[in-house]
Amino acid sequence: MNTFFTTLKNLFNLLLSLLSRLIPSMANPKPDEPQSPTDPPPPPPPAFDPSKPSVPISYPIKDLKSLESRSYFESFHYPFNKSSVPLPAPDVAAPDRPRMLVCHDMMGGYADDKWVQGGSNAEAYGIWHWHLIDVFVYFSHNLVSVPPPCWTNAAHTHGVKVLGTFLVEWDEGIVIADKLLSTKESAILYAERLTELADALGFDGWLINMEVKLKVDKIPILKEFVNHLTQTMHASVEGSLVIWYDSVTKDGLLRYQNELNENNKPFFDLCDGLFANYFWQKDSPKRSASFAGARKFDVYMGIDVFGRGTYGGGEWNTHVALDVLKKDNVSAALFAPGWVYESKQGPDFETAQNRWWGLVEKSWGILRNYPKVVPFYSNFDQGHGYHVYIEGSQAADVPWNNLSSQTFQPVLDNNQRTIKAFINFKDAAYTGGANITFEGNLEDNATLTTRLFRGKLHLEDLPLHITYSVMQDGKSRLGLSLGFSKNSETKSILLTTDAEFIADQLKTQFDMVINPVLVKISRRESSSTSRWILKETTIKMRGYTLNEINVLHYSGKDELHDTILETDLRQQGTKTVSVKMAWKLEGGDNPSFVKYNIYVGKSAQEAKYLGVAKVRAFYVSDLVVVPGVSNLIFFIQVCSSDGTSQELDSSPTYKLAVKG
Ligand SMILES: *[C@@H]1O[C@H](CO)[C@@H](O)[C@H](O)[C@H]1NC(C)=O
Ligand SMILES: *[C@@H]1O[C@H](CO)[C@@H](O)[C@H](O)[C@H]1NC(C)=O
Ligand SMILES: *[C@@H]1O[C@H](CO)[C@@H](O)[C@H](O)[C@H]1NC(C)=O
Ligand SMILES: *[C@@H]1O[C@H](CO)[C@@H](O)[C@H](O)[C@H]1NC(C)=O
Ligand SMILES: *[C@@H]1O[C@H](CO)[C@@H](O)[C@H](O)[C@H]1NC(C)=O
Repeated sequence: MNTFFTTLKNLFNLLLSLLSRLIPSMANPKPDEPQSPTDPPPPPPPAFDPSKPSVPISYPIKDLKSLESRSYFESFHYPFNKSSVPLPAPDVAAPDRPRMLVCHDMMGGYADDKWVQGGSNAEAYGIWHWHLIDVFVYFSHNLVSVPPPCWTNAAHTHGVKVLGTFLVEWDEGIVIADKLLSTKESAILYAERLTELADALGFDGWLINMEVKLKVDKIPILKEFVNHLTQTMHASVEGSLVIWYDSVTKDGLLRYQNELNENNKPFFDLCDGLFANYFWQKDSPKRSASFAGARKFDVYMGIDVFGRGTYGGGEWNTHVALDVLKKDNVSAALFAPGWVYESKQGPDFETAQNRWWGLVEKSWGILRNYPKVVPFYSNFDQGHGYHVYIEGSQAADVPWNNLSSQTFQPVLDNNQRTIKAFINFKDAAYTGGANITFEGNLEDNATLTTRLFRGKLHLEDLPLHITYSVMQDGKSRLGLSLGFSKNSETKSILLTTDAEFIADQLKTQFDMVINPVLVKISRRESSSTSRWILKETTIKMRGYTLNEINVLHYSGKDELHDTILETDLRQQGTKTVSVKMAWKLEGGDNPSFVKYNIYVGKSAQEAKYLGVAKVRAFYVSDLVVVPGVSNLIFFIQVCSSDGTSQELDSSPTYKLAVKG
């Protein structure tokens, strides 16, 4: 929970620094405004000096000299440019099926996403359909597009690989290519610089885009560049990828082939895949697949979402091309899905984006599953919002964006009609900046299931510990239904607080109905009717795989308005503590001390009430210890006969180390 406190502090620092940077340019008079002769000339905008402290940003490398000199490692910003989330182990190997690559090219890149510590645009672009994506490429028209770390953090959280782009194009590209390919040694040097960059900044490889015409005698050196980059990437970053963009041919001509064939295969053979240009025809995927043989999933057929020359026309018809690729069993490369945002598709970005990716899902299905490992936590934060909440209380009320703070995104079904399920980042939340809101109407006694996560979490001996927080309005009720499988056998469990409210007929649809324990009801300043309830339970399903987490809605007749705020799954050896505490009063007995309240927790603010002692001793019996907790702090609050009690903050404490 401390993370969010840090988050806020950083946000405020950021805004202050931004302001001080903006002042010089705001002071510039407009050209057509009459200038008083006494006005000093406007100060020139300060040159950006990467060695000086300023708001940390991520930006591309624009020339070979900067790449060669390794100057970014000395810059003030370098430590901030690193991603902090590693790719999860189960996602390191490339899946043996058609893969979905997404190439992000939007408004020149480095927009709201360049603010390494987050920006102030609540409506910033983001991606949250990671369950439909395998590889994310950060692309801009610069020599070296280094992915801003927020993208790597969000993608890696969901098991998606992230590549930067090395791009040589236009007239200046010819000069760059001359230097890059002047000798074999030079090609090797730049390949190593790129590998070092990916390794140091924590992303997974490169898209190589050589969009220039070359002399044919440079081709062997270019091949060495591709080969060396691939080899060194593989040696330094496990599961890394180097993908060749279909541009210059084996003869040095700049001729897009729009498929894999003998003209671009020499490069494909040296790296992990080909990104074929968009102008392909109906038969191209099939031809490419047979040309690739055993490596057909390494052929990524380009689809321009803007529709320029693209099969099916892109835009809202992108699935037409996807259907062909799916049928022909090759991979896809979606170029610029930020089209939805840039072209302002209605009614609003959130809805349009969900609808657009909903069509991608309809064509290709869900590609990635989570949870696959525990602990698994989501507060449904999408990486932008208008407020920040910490355990139910509002901690900040300013617009913000920070893809780094995205937690696991729910796999909502946008084709669901009866109930509208959406991430609500405009209103209140429990922790972070968003919640999921379900809205709709249910018939009397009817129930409805909506999809929340699609996992592949294998359970062994240890029990699974589940915590979730929820708010329910009016008569609506919400339960979590979990689907398990073991070979061909399936089991379903319903978690709900009011099992008695559920019709027997519904109960029989589940193998087990569990009433989770109520852990906490959060205070809420603004409302008397709604409150956040934190619930938890532990289940043991040895040998089973958890595949589905759904939300079950059931209700009387009123409008349904349910919210889930957080889910948290952990596997644990349930640890319990029993302990006897006894205490003495300094200066002897005081008859006005009538009782002692006992609490346990990390701090006075978080302490949970355990019970009351009328004597100077208390026995804690079978207290469940949350995994990861190594110390328990007990608070002993003295209560006086006049009804007052000591502040918990200044109450005596007793610390107990818990052994693993
Ligand atoms: C953005 O998220 C990162 C990683 O969680 C964090 O370090 C940073 O403080 C956040 N910034 C803001 C402004 O929330
Ligand atoms: C990180 O930021 C610094 C300073 O802005 C810049 O020089 C450097 O190139 C950046 N590094 C990357 C890899 O983006
Ligand atoms: C796709 O290719 C794989 C591997 O060659 C094969 O096992 C699978 O059956 C193919 N699927 C389709 C739909 O053709
Ligand atoms: C979640 O968002 C809805 C949006 O309408 C808001 O009314 C509700 O208060 C939020 N839920 C919680 C528990 O904060
Ligand atoms: C709903 O269930 C209750 C209790 O079983 C029953 O009395 C009532 O008639 C049902 N309503 C409808 C519309 O089926």
